[in-house]
Amino acid sequence: MAEHLWDKGKTTNEDIVRFTVGRDRELDLYLAKHDVLGSMAHITMLESIGLIGKDELPVLLKELKGIYEIAEKGEFVIEDGVEDVHSQVELMLTRKLGDLGKKIHSGRSRNDQVLLDMKLYTRAEIKELVHLCRQLFDVLIAQSEKYKNVLMPGYTHLQIAMPSSFGLWFGAYAESLVDDMELLLAAYNITNRNPLGSAAGYGSSFPLNRQMTTDLLGFNSMDYNVVYAQMGRGKMEKTVAMAMAGIAATIGKLAFDSCMFTCQNFAFMKLPDDCTTGSSIMPHKKNPDVFELTRAKCNQIQTIPQQIMMIMSNLPVGYFRDLQQIKEIFIPAIDQLKDCLKMATYIMDKVKINEHILDDPKYDFIFSVEEVNRLATEGMPFRDAYKKVGLDCENGRFTPNKDIKHTHEGSIGNLCNDRIQALMDKTIGEFHFEKVEQAVEKLIK
Ligand code: ARG
Repeated sequence: MAEHLWDKGKTTNEDIVRFTVGRDRELDLYLAKHDVLGSMAHITMLESIGLIGKDELPVLLKELKGIYEIAEKGEFVIEDGVEDVHSQVELMLTRKLGDLGKKIHSGRSRNDQVLLDMKLYTRAEIKELVHLCRQLFDVLIAQSEKYKNVLMPGYTHLQIAMPSSFGLWFGAYAESLVDDMELLLAAYNITNRNPLGSAAGYGSSFPLNRQMTTDLLGFNSMDYNVVYAQMGRGKMEKTVAMAMAGIAATIGKLAFDSCMFTCQNFAFMKLPDDCTTGSSIMPHKKNPDVFELTRAKCNQIQTIPQQIMMIMSNLPVGYFRDLQQIKEIFIPAIDQLKDCLKMATYIMDKVKINEHILDDPKYDFIFSVEEVNRLATEGMPFRDAYKKVGLDCENGRFTPNKDIKHTHEGSIGNLCNDRIQALMDKTIGEFHFEKVEQAVEKLIK
């Protein structure tokens, strides 16, 4: 028999319950410790406005802290017949404390509770994403520096074009992550505002102290307007998903390049044996499945903003159960992105580089522009030099000078990795995760 917070003595069809609960029992586990944190802040505030007794607060907080620890250990379960994490926490409290447990929901609704849980959960996950992006970034910069003098062909239209280098290639993906962090920072700032107190979406006649819960939970500010706070459900997820899509696009492209460059026809890079997978029929195979799956998963992640938008696109103001469905899309995508980041970091660190790609004469023409520029520097008009070298190439008279000299910012000979690193440091510093950590630590202490 199901136990519902909203139970008024009438039974609900079990199939309807199954259908409406959906995957909440599984996905709400991600929210458990955040739900408890939110309740701790909420009841601390309720005590301050006289809705919970001075003597009652420590009892409730102690019990909640116990539940927090259970959740931290990954041992929190939502029992059969219990609808969601919010119901489960309240059930655990009332089982232990009786009527006292029933007091905590004053001035709150599951609508602002789940809004808050999603924000606290997402805030913590963004921190992990930033950390993982930083690790990948550091590996990419290290590889860029290590191989800065190893040249490779650059392509346009997938036709050999101009000299490039592994310094440029690795460094390009590092710098791409810098911009991705900038977008994630904007999404983080939107996430880091407190919706608690909006209740069902219209506030409460209790004199709630919303600034107090904002401070207790380490939020930067609150979503002030209670109607807007409720509108944030799904909007926050969509915004973060867009930033995640940016990261996924970077890694997906890196994965595609890596698939291509490890192909024997290119043979620019080699995966270490422990990163390849075999074939059931072809004994020689060492396949880059890891890059292929990374590519596919990153493409999938880039569909998440659209999926969320489709769920929200025709919803008017106010809460709707439709919004629950967003959890199913959003939460697994975060796990998937973290997985892809870990894979990319591991492999980019271990990948072996072919240092002699350009010994192959089929790449000689990538030095044609170098020759044009040399002639132009000596005084020949650019267009004449272009024509001369073009004809030399046609007639088999072109001999490349592979000793190239590129000096401007961001070029082969002047990667500016230190400046790219400084940009990354600056952006990551602006998240101020320490502020959140301190608040959360204080709350659970
Ligand atoms: N599981 C629900 C969700 O994710 C919780 C909020 C329920 N609120 C309601 N009014 N039925 O949206």
